Amino acid sequence: MSNLVVVGTQWGDEGKGRVVDFLSKKADAIVRFQGGSNAGHTVMVTGEKFIFHLVPSGALRRGEKCIIGNGVVVDPRELLEEIKNLQSRGIKVDNLYLSGSAHVVMPYHRKIEEMEEEQRDKQKIGTTKRGIGPAYADKIARKGLRIADLLDKKILAQKLSAALKFWKDIYSLNYSFDKIFEEYLNYGRELRKYVTDTSLLVNQLMQENKDIIFEGAQGTLLDVDHGTYPYVTSSNTVSGGVCTGIGIGPTRIDKVLGVVKAYTTRVGKGPFPTEIKGEIGKILREKGKEYGATTGRARRCGWFDGVILRYAARVNGLDELALTKLDVLDELERIKICVAYKYKGKIIKDFPFQLNVWEGCEPVYKEMEGWMKDTSIVNKYEDLPEEAKRYINMIEKVGGVFVHLLSVAPQRSKLLTIG
Ligand code: IMP
Repeated sequence: MSNLVVVGTQWGDEGKGRVVDFLSKKADAIVRFQGGSNAGHTVMVTGEKFIFHLVPSGALRRGEKCIIGNGVVVDPRELLEEIKNLQSRGIKVDNLYLSGSAHVVMPYHRKIEEMEEEQRDKQKIGTTKRGIGPAYADKIARKGLRIADLLDKKILAQKLSAALKFWKDIYSLNYSFDKIFEEYLNYGRELRKYVTDTSLLVNQLMQENKDIIFEGAQGTLLDVDHGTYPYVTSSNTVSGGVCTGIGIGPTRIDKVLGVVKAYTTRVGKGPFPTEIKGEIGKILREKGKEYGATTGRARRCGWFDGVILRYAARVNGLDELALTKLDVLDELERIKICVAYKYKGKIIKDFPFQLNVWEGCEPVYKEMEGWMKDTSIVNKYEDLPEEAKRYINMIEKVGGVFVHLLSVAPQRSKLLTIG
């Protein structure tokens, strides 16, 4: 049937979890392909809040497969905690599949991340402190441990002792081999029933014409290649990451949906041209509940940046958009959209690839009238205030992609289909 990729188009926290949850009512499998427990996908079901870090957001619907692919870095302690937490709330997690090739986040990864952030002094990235960067660095440096290694006592012993020796020699870190060995061997025992070849599984599902959703974590501007490097995460968050993060060919992807918030937010450090420092920024933060689902950190808030959306449309090959949190703007008299940047007196329409140029860019805004009405009560697009429709049209025009889904409140029923 169809294979859909869902990605964030900004700096994460666009509302991908709820969009995936909504779309998953028709899906046979939900697949995570990158990131790790740095992600925090929030889904509201009948007033209850669920936050997913590693388990795909589709876990709330019965029947479909939840798959964690090889491109994800897995902290087994966090994964098991998440599974137990879901089970304690009556959610059965017997449909979970975990790639044996996914890399493992080890205790020393968190420590290394802490030391490296400390060492960066003024250039801190403001990471989620989940060991994500060092785990991916070990993968690329070919000294990481994979989930399959936890299933074999001899291999685990060999790889763990080599890793501990390495970190002792390089960073003088002293870890007890016996303690970690026992702990991770136990994780392997507990996870064994979920472990499989997820590339084979996903390709088989495709052959059977099943509907599959690939659930991206973080957002385009946090992509290690296409984001605002070095203020990025350590994986490929863009749609192309699906191919390597699962083991499928690019010809198998049918559609890419970009999730975009009606304004912009960013957690952690790094430039942010449309950031609002004053009162309106506070309104957006409080009304939009802009606090990190993983770390609880307050998110920086700003006006909608159309240059970023255009860029995200290009690097992801976006087919359509899901626009979220429109209701957060309900009380604003005037709303600004950034349609271009100005750099040294020149108008720039394309996202600059040099961070220092981008840092020096000033947003060029188009100012629009707000609607000053409660959109959260609206149940269909046609009933939106005209000013809100104009705002949506402007987003489509500046980004060059149509909005297909629109969210006006956190409940499942408040995700409206357009067209
Ligand atoms: P890391 O992924 O923990 O290494 O953090 C690198 C950067 O990505 C930091 O600026 C984080 O705040 C940001 N980041 C990582 N995951 C998320 C997410 O799920 N939402 C928003 N920002 C994130």
